Amino acid sequence: MIIEPRTRGFICITSHPDGCAKGVANQIDYIKSKDKIDGAKNVLIIGASTGFGLASRITSAFGSDASTIGVFFEKPPAAGRTASSGWYNTAAFEKAAHNEGLYAKSINGDAFSHEIKNETIELIKKDLGQIDMVVYSLASPVRTHPDTGIRYKSTLKPIGKTYTNKTVDFHTGEIKEISIEPSTEDDISNTVAVMGGEDWEMWINELKKNNLLSPNFKTIAYSYIGPKLTEPVYRKGTIGKAKDHLEQTAFTITDSLKDLNGQAYVSVNKALVTQSSSAIPVIPLYISLLYKVMKENGVQEGCIEQIHRLYSERLFIDKTPTDSEGRIRIDDWEMRSDIQEKVTKLWEQATTESLSSIGDLEGYRTEFFNLFGFNFDEIDYSADTNEIVNIPSINA
Ligand code: NAI
Repeated sequence: MIIEPRTRGFICITSHPDGCAKGVANQIDYIKSKDKIDGAKNVLIIGASTGFGLASRITSAFGSDASTIGVFFEKPPAAGRTASSGWYNTAAFEKAAHNEGLYAKSINGDAFSHEIKNETIELIKKDLGQIDMVVYSLASPVRTHPDTGIRYKSTLKPIGKTYTNKTVDFHTGEIKEISIEPSTEDDISNTVAVMGGEDWEMWINELKKNNLLSPNFKTIAYSYIGPKLTEPVYRKGTIGKAKDHLEQTAFTITDSLKDLNGQAYVSVNKALVTQSSSAIPVIPLYISLLYKVMKENGVQEGCIEQIHRLYSERLFIDKTPTDSEGRIRIDDWEMRSDIQEKVTKLWEQATTESLSSIGDLEGYRTEFFNLFGFNFDEIDYSADTNEIVNIPSINA
């Protein structure tokens, strides 16, 4: 079929298999152009199919020759209907890994459920014996609690008072004001239930109970802080409460890993265009101004550059540097005071008319469509393309 982008709100409902493969190949090439990293060898990545999780899987496999198991929740293709991009990304990743003799298997399903945890545990027992790292990179709007069956929905709301600021529709470039009503107590607890650390801790407890964690085991989850501008809707909003909980959970997990000399980390990453971040009001405008400033200063990074720096300059060195709250920081370039001062100035000037010149809206759009395999110069989008692409380990 001829596959074209079809957008609905902030999401693209079609994906291009060849374009997704190109995006994955670019990330693999980037890692192969760098020195090898003396990192973990048997790695479980939860949320492995897109964004930071995919970049983590690629960096482990091609940077450290690791065997990887990836867990994710993606839509397989059907005749006349494309798969979701994470499906095609994983198909391309597995093929590339297998070509180089690297072990790579994947599990598609709800990582919050007992079933998927058990399936993963059985696969580790059968194929790897033990694992030495878990990357926890889930981003989900909902979670069904595996013990109670209660379905929680996360929200992106300020706490305490209404937040009003500019936001952009990145498809049209139109900037308008948006007001978001404050959360209820339920919104906060529901968001913490979805995006906080409970599920991360459940995964590690289950794996440990089954004796699947090796000595010196590491686990890492990803967080965000961001600037004053977005604070009311991000770090001091409902999602920020969930991130506080995730960050606290790292200490609880580290305590539970004492006998293995294990360690749980949270890494604070930079703001990037991913399927999750494009859903957050205000963030796309912030990102398009941030990208402009970071590119001008030669410090712009995508997911793969971020994770490469995380592994090679933070995680797998003798003493992992952390901030006063125990977090790894790879948002250091985003948060540089000169970068933030410029973004704040541009924010004041940003209008529908000025954005295309003072911001990097084009860069934002390109990256957004790249997430779904579109807007790659090397791909012929007018060509008939087979939408049925298998993930080797799932359809074998
Ligand atoms: P993403 O949307 O690109 O990836 C989410 C992953 O989770 C995908 O692999 C998806 O299949 C998987 N997933 C979602 N629900 C699932 C479920 N029920 N079961 C199994 N897999 C499921 O998201 P992104 O942006 O890479 O986020 C990953 C983490 O990084 C999140 O914790 C996010 O808060 C954090 N982060 C993101 C930043 C950004 O700007 N995008 C900045 C800093 C941190």
